Amino acid sequence: MKIENIKVCAFDAYGTCFDINSAAQELSSEIGEDWLSFSSTWRTVQLEYTWLRSLMKKYVDFWKITEDSLDFAMDAHKINIKFKNQLLNLYKKLNAYPELSNCLEYLRDKKIKTCILSNGSPILLNDLVNHANVKNLFDNILSVDEIKVYKPDPKVYEMVTKKYKCTPNEVCFMSSNTWDVVGGGVYGFHTCWVNRFEKEFDRLDYQPDKIIKDLSDLSKLL
Ligand code: 2OP
Repeated sequence: MKIENIKVCAFDAYGTCFDINSAAQELSSEIGEDWLSFSSTWRTVQLEYTWLRSLMKKYVDFWKITEDSLDFAMDAHKINIKFKNQLLNLYKKLNAYPELSNCLEYLRDKKIKTCILSNGSPILLNDLVNHANVKNLFDNILSVDEIKVYKPDPKVYEMVTKKYKCTPNEVCFMSSNTWDVVGGGVYGFHTCWVNRFEKEFDRLDYQPDKIIKDLSDLSKLL
């Protein structure tokens, strides 16, 4: 069953459009067999820091949080500090998932607006879409840096309805991050969980409208 009356598709960036593990994977021979566990620690701590800073009202931009969480993960996994700058540079050029362009072109052909809605800072997000050659396939890039609070604060999701002057149920929100899917759904979006990693969904009194394996399945929903 398709989701009707969608004017805007909003995409989470990290883990949904771009492969957050591709930075550490690029250096896997230098980091060693622990590279995926290290990358998971980096990501987990990065997200924890966004949630904690929002709760403490101590906002700093996502790049600072990415650097701080990288320092933590490198210490925790005893990764030589000489790889820090390489990892940070690679994080600016994460691989886009292979099906992203076709998905965006499909939505453009259906005259559905597309935007990124992300914790990422504007410069980081611009680097990502430029490196992946998909900048022209997104109508807008919305960064929480405009409002200085991180997901899943409802004010983040409100950025989409304000930008497009639409109602929440005219938006379909895609994310691979379960907590982010809940945030968008509780705000009122139609939600699509991109369950790339065959994870369990959070117990937060909310279930996604749709679950897909990757973005190529989106054409079955819209
Ligand atoms: C985002 O892109 C961090 O994946 C999250 O907002």
